[in-house]
Amino acid sequence: MTKRALYTGSFDPMTYGHLDIIERASKMFGELVVGVIVNPNKQPLFTKEERVAMIKAETAHLGNVKVDCFQGLLADYVNANGFNAVIRGLRATTDFEYEIQMAQMNDRLFNEGVESVFLMTNPEYSFISSSVIKEVLSLGGCVDGLVPEKILEEMKKKYCRK
Ligand code: COA
Repeated sequence: MTKRALYTGSFDPMTYGHLDIIERASKMFGELVVGVIVNPNKQPLFTKEERVAMIKAETAHLGNVKVDCFQGLLADYVNANGFNAVIRGLRATTDFEYEIQMAQMNDRLFNEGVESVFLMTNPEYSFISSSVIKEVLSLGGCVDGLVPEKILEEMKKKYCRK
């Protein structure tokens, strides 16, 4: 049976750090779904439709990767869609503290056999987050090499309009 995994987050926008995790996870599972979450606690730069479209374009070379969008409880989405695993990237020890709490809570909520799987972020990208990229670019700093070129263009268009 094909093992299906979910890699979830806000992806506002997707960075090379995320893409690195997606490429590596896609080799580990038969199917990988990138699940863009609508996080009510965050004010996004991009709409969910824009984020999904950008991720689809950047992952088009990966035959077993699909992109979806959801909101609400992660465990509900995971259980309803029959995933075997949820992938998370770890950048630093600070991520670990948050992730272990989430993984242990989710373990109570997931269907039996669903695992949280952690991949270490490529050290080249361990210092970035979507917010830091947005802040630097909005203040005129250079983020070349940290975000795919087309996504960088879309970000620049957004900041020009503001
Ligand atoms: N490279 C670069 N940056 C990375 C990264 C990587 N490999 N991995 C994470 N990041 C960044 C992200 O860009 C994000 O930046 P931002 O905060 O500036 O947007 C930050 O690290 C946090 O990432 P992540 O935790 O993936 O994003 P999130 O907070 O939007 O998503 C969810 C967290 C979706 C997993 C969590 O909110 C959730 O499960 N929500 C659903 C509700 C629920 O079920 N709650 C109960 C959980 S027990």
